[in-house]
Amino acid sequence: MATLRPKGDDCLVWAIRGANQLAHRYATRRQCTTTTMTAWQQTQNLETAHGLPALVYTHQDIANQEIDVFRRSWQLLAHAAQLAAPGDHIVDEIAGLPVLIVRSPDGALLGFHNVCRHRGGPLAIACGGGMKQLRCHYHGWSYDWNGALRSGPELDAMVDFDRAAVRLPAIEVAQWQGLVFASVAPEVPFAALTAGIDARIGAALSGVEFQKRISYTAQCNWKAYVDNYLEGYHVPHIHPALNRLLDYREYRTDCFEHYALQSSPLDAAESFYGLGEALYYQLWPNTMLNILPGRLQTNRIVPLAVNACRIDFDYYYTPELARDAAKIAADQALADDTQREDIDICERVQRAFASGSYDTGRVHPTREQGVHWFQERYRRAFA
Ligand code: FES
Ligand SMILES: [Fe+2]
Repeated sequence: MATLRPKGDDCLVWAIRGANQLAHRYATRRQCTTTTMTAWQQTQNLETAHGLPALVYTHQDIANQEIDVFRRSWQLLAHAAQLAAPGDHIVDEIAGLPVLIVRSPDGALLGFHNVCRHRGGPLAIACGGGMKQLRCHYHGWSYDWNGALRSGPELDAMVDFDRAAVRLPAIEVAQWQGLVFASVAPEVPFAALTAGIDARIGAALSGVEFQKRISYTAQCNWKAYVDNYLEGYHVPHIHPALNRLLDYREYRTDCFEHYALQSSPLDAAESFYGLGEALYYQLWPNTMLNILPGRLQTNRIVPLAVNACRIDFDYYYTPELARDAAKIAADQALADDTQREDIDICERVQRAFASGSYDTGRVHPTREQGVHWFQERYRRAFA
C-alpha cells in the first residue's frame, strides 16, 4: 500500500503546542506535506483555502479527541413534546456519556449524567413518562431533583461515608423552538449558538408537531457528511429531483459564528410545499434544521466510528400539512431519495480519503463557503 501514499517531503518537525501533539506524532510517522499540516491546523482564507486533510476523517486518534469537541457542544436530544409533563424523561448519550433529561415535579427541565455514583448504574433505561424520583435501577440509591443523594438500601452500614458529598453531575439543558438541546460542558451559552435565527425564521416553526423519525447509517466520517450538507455545489450533479425544486442560481450561503445558513427560493412550478423558501441551518457541530413552508426536518449526525455515523431525521409538520397525506409522502420520498444520494457520495469520498490517494484539495470560494465555515470552526474547536 505504501506506493499509493502521496509523495511529499518528510515532515519531521512541526511546530505544535499542547493538544496538537498528535499532529507531531502523525507528521513524524508517515510522509505528509506541509500543505497537509497547514490545512489541518492553520486558519485558511476563504479565497485560497485547502480543506481538512484526509487523515482528519480517517484517523482513530482524531476521533478519540473529538469526544471533547462533542461534549463541549450543544446536542439536539429531544422535541419539547417528549418532555411536556412532570416525570417525562429521555435517555441518550453525548459522545458516549449516558445522559438523562427529565421534567421535574415543579416543571423544570433538568439534565444529569445517567450514571449512578454507587457503581455506575442507570437512573433510567428508556425514554418515557411518570418518573417520580431519580432512583437507580441497579441497587436503588435515590437522589433528589438537585442530584444530591437522598437515600439507599442499608446505607447506614457504610463506614466513613459522606452522603452529602455524593451527587449526580448535572448537565445543561435548553429548550428552543420546540426542541431540547443539552451540553455536558458548554463552550458557549445556548443563546449564542442560535443568535439571530429567531429573527430570520419568524413564526416558521410555530405549530409544527413531531411526526416520525427515520434513521440512516452512513459508512463515512461524520464530518464528511457535514461537509457535503454544507454546499449546494453538488446539487445539480447528485440530486436531479432536488435540483428541480430549488432555484440554484438564487442558492446562497451565509455564515455566522456558530451556524451557517443555506437558502433558496422554492421554484413555484415544482414546489409541493407552496411558495416560500427553503432554509437549511447547520448548527455547530452536528445539528441541521431543514425548514420548508409548514415543515421542519431536523438531522442529528451521531458518530459511530471514525468511518461511520448515524443520521436521525425527525419530521415535524403543521397540523394542516400533516393532514395532506400525499404531500407528506412526497416530502419524505424526496428527502429519502436525496439522503440516499448523499450517503452514496459521502461513502465514496470516505473510501477515497482512506485510500492514500488523496490528501487535501481546494475549497470553492463562492460555492463552498459553508464547508469553509465548518472547517474553520472545527480547527478552532480542536485546537
Ligand atoms: S449502581 Fe446505582 S445503586 Fe448501585
Ligand atoms: Fe446533498
